[in-house]
Amino acid sequence: MSIFFLALLSFNSFKNGAFNINPENHQNIIDGSRTAYAQTQNLSIKEQLNSGIRYFDIRTAWHSSKKVHIVHNIIDCMDEDGKTLFFSKVLKDCSDFLSSHNSETIILHLTIQENNEANQSLVIDQVNNNIDEYIKNKKMYNVNDGNNKNRIPTLNEVRGKIVILSRRYGFDGIYLTIPEESDDVNYVETECINKNYKCITQDAYKLGESSKLKAITKLINRQNNLSEQGSENLKMEIVINFFNIEYSIFGDSIKTVSYHFKNELIDGNKLTPNKQHGWIVVDYADKDIASYIYKTNKFYDGRCGSKNVIDFLNY
Ligand SMILES: *[C@@H]1O[C@H](CO)[C@@H](O)[C@H](O)[C@H]1NC(C)=O
Ligand SMILES: *[C@@H]1O[C@H](CO)[C@@H](O)[C@H](O)[C@H]1NC(C)=O
Ligand SMILES: *[C@@H]1O[C@H](CO)[C@@H](O)[C@H](O)[C@H]1NC(C)=O
Repeated sequence: MSIFFLALLSFNSFKNGAFNINPENHQNIIDGSRTAYAQTQNLSIKEQLNSGIRYFDIRTAWHSSKKVHIVHNIIDCMDEDGKTLFFSKVLKDCSDFLSSHNSETIILHLTIQENNEANQSLVIDQVNNNIDEYIKNKKMYNVNDGNNKNRIPTLNEVRGKIVILSRRYGFDGIYLTIPEESDDVNYVETECINKNYKCITQDAYKLGESSKLKAITKLINRQNNLSEQGSENLKMEIVINFFNIEYSIFGDSIKTVSYHFKNELIDGNKLTPNKQHGWIVVDYADKDIASYIYKTNKFYDGRCGSKNVIDFLNY
C-alpha cells in the first residue's frame, strides 16, 4: 500500500496560522485590506495536525535573519504566537507530533516564493541541511536512498516520518510538480515522478465559483465511477483535487468560498464511500472536512492505515 494510494489525506495549503504583513519589505505593495487575498486557513500547524490534516503546501523564502521562513506570495506567515514562521519550526512541530503519533505520516510539499536567485540557493541549501538532520533522527523519509526519488513509498516505510515532496528541482524530495491549468474545468493527466506514475490533477484556481465547482465535481465523479478500485492501474496514479481558488476573481473572500465548497462536499455528500478519492486539497481545512474525507475513504475500515488517524481523533 503506497501513501499516495490512500484517499485519506486532507490538504491544507499556503500558509499557517495568523498572518501579518511585514512592513519592512512590503509597505508599498500591499495594505491591510488585501489580507483576505492571502490567508488560507486559521489554524496553526499543530492544530491542523490534531485536526487530521496531513499535507501542507509549504512556500519558502529567505528571511533577513538568514533563515528560511514560510510565505504566501509576498505575505509572511506567522506562527501561533504571531512570530515569523520559520521552516525549522514547521519541521519541529511535525516531528513532535510524530513522536506521539508514530503510525502517522506527514507530507510537506515545498516550493520557493523568492525572486532573487542567490537567495533561492540559500533557501535550498538550508532546507536540505534541515532535511538531512531529520533523516539522521529517523523522522524523515530519505529520498536519497536507492531509487526512492522515483517511487512512491509504502505507508509502512513512512510511518512516523515526514515525506518531502518538491514542486521544484533542488530540494531533497520526491519531485511532484503541478501542471499550470488554472482556468480549465477539465482535470489534466500528466506523467509524473520521473514518468513512473500518472498524475490526475485539478487545480483550476482561476475559475469562477460555479465553474470551479464543476471542475471539482468532474474529478470526484471520475473517482466515484472507477469500479476497479485497487487495480494495478490505480496504484500507478496520483489524483489531486484542489478546492483552492484565487480571491481576486470573486467578491467573496477565500474563507467564504472555501466554506461554501466544503459544505457542498459534505452536505451534498459528494464522495461515495469506499472509493479512492485521491487527495482533497482545501483551504481552511478543519476537523469536519478531514473527518468526512477519512470516513468516505476506501481504506476507512483500517486495513491500510487510515484507521490510525480516526482512532486518535476519536471521531
Ligand atoms: C476559524 O474560522 C472558523 C470559521 O469562521 C471559526 O469557526 C473558527 O472559530 C476559527 N478558528 C480560529 C482558531 O480562529
Ligand atoms: C537576499 O536576502 C537578504 C537577507 O538575507 C536581503 O538582504 C537581500 O536583499 C536579498 N536579496 C535580494 C536581491 O532580494
Ligand atoms: C459518473 O458519475 C456521474 C455522477 O455520479 C454520472 O453522471 C456519469 O454519467 C458517470 N460517468 C460514467 C462514465 O459512468
